Amino acid sequence: MKKNIKIITKHWGKINPLRIEEYLKEGGYKALEKFIFQMRPEEAIQEIEASNLCGRGGAGFPTGKKLKMVAERKEKEKYFICNLDESEPGTYKDRMIVKNNPQLLLEGLIISALTVGASKAFIYLNGNYEEEKYILEKALAQAEKEKFLGEKILSSGYNLELKLFFGAGAYICGEETALINSIEGKRGEPRMRPPYPTEKGLWEKPTAVNNAETIANIPWIILEGGKKFATIGAECSPGTKLYILSGAINNPGVFEAPTGITVRQLIKEIGGGIPKGKKFWFAQIGGASGVLAIGKDLDAELTFSKNCLIPLGSGSVLVIDKSVEIYDLLFSWSDFFRRESCGKCLPCREGTFRLNEIIQRFEDGKISQRDKKALGQILWSLENTAFCPFGKFVAKPFQDALERLDIFKNV
Ligand SMILES: Cc1cc2nc3c(=O)[nH]c(=O)nc-3n(C[C@H](O)[C@H](O)[C@H](O)COP(=O)(O)O)c2cc1C
Ligand code: SF4
Repeated sequence: MKKNIKIITKHWGKINPLRIEEYLKEGGYKALEKFIFQMRPEEAIQEIEASNLCGRGGAGFPTGKKLKMVAERKEKEKYFICNLDESEPGTYKDRMIVKNNPQLLLEGLIISALTVGASKAFIYLNGNYEEEKYILEKALAQAEKEKFLGEKILSSGYNLELKLFFGAGAYICGEETALINSIEGKRGEPRMRPPYPTEKGLWEKPTAVNNAETIANIPWIILEGGKKFATIGAECSPGTKLYILSGAINNPGVFEAPTGITVRQLIKEIGGGIPKGKKFWFAQIGGASGVLAIGKDLDAELTFSKNCLIPLGSGSVLVIDKSVEIYDLLFSWSDFFRRESCGKCLPCREGTFRLNEIIQRFEDGKISQRDKKALGQILWSLENTAFCPFGKFVAKPFQDALERLDIFKNV
């Protein structure tokens, strides 16, 4: 596997993110020029479909298919939204794109919005990302000055108004329908799906919502071609991915590597291994809601495929060594989910509180047989009856802790 291909991080550390000239000098906005002067929107979507790019926000939905669904809608008014909410604990890749190369994100966003026929787009930014807000405001003003944004882009017939929307820092507002509610000024809680946003999204109009990392791949695909992209990484979900390594690892940080890489390769070859004296216990892949990968999973390939043993999710890899107190970890997850439940449905509103209480009793050594039984029931109802995927997200790490780590072995 070629591990050194760089699509998103190519210019990180080499250009000043506050100066559009430096991005232009490196060939920036050539993809937008190609899109505007040499392609029709359908052709750009065909290229993205051929790339097999799938969403980097976690669910891995095919990007070309989503753009096509919105492009084919007959409504005149359509929207494009870049999801930069990024509230998953341990995940900070999207903010690194902004910090290192905001113009790459803007270029991908402008092309994506124009392919679907949107003349208005938003960046939904995490409410805690003050520095990124400053960078994006500057980047937007510079892109507008260069005529890459606004009316008659590069003197063509294309127009795009791009607005920055600052969220309030709620985890659930990363879910696309809650995010749409939030932009509309409503309570940030999920909507019933269907209808999906591609049909009835922002202000009831067809809307494409894509993750920032997904969007940052678009300029490369337009310039180099979808077929070439499809040859990188895992066949089922090609391309590179930003991996966020943290925990018991010598070299933590955000790194770009192909999809299909294994947890062992990430820890050893990219993360520089586990610090001396520490022993690997498990790794949580994809944030607080992620799967717990144990020793036998170390050589499983990470992809977005539904059949994948260890799904990639947001790409975060938290390495836990044997010295970690499992109660602390379980409590931090349950406390996070209790705080972040939007409260719309009962299984999650009540379930996350009860879960948090049981974990507290577990920590205090006061867990009863009744608690253990209740825990199983709470996790089942979160997984199977919650209104939105948040319920499944909560249940997953606890189910894994029970099944794979056997946390009740001694109680
Ligand atoms: C509780 C919850 C939180 C989410 N948070 C994010 C997020 O912070 N960023 C993101 O891109 N997608 C997040 N998603 C996924 C979005 O709903 C949506 O699938 C994604 O933005 C689509 O973009 P993509 O196809 O490019 O991945 C979240 C989903 C759920 C259920
Ligand atoms: S599962 Fe229910 S309460 Fe929890 S975040 Fe989703 S809609 Fe809100």
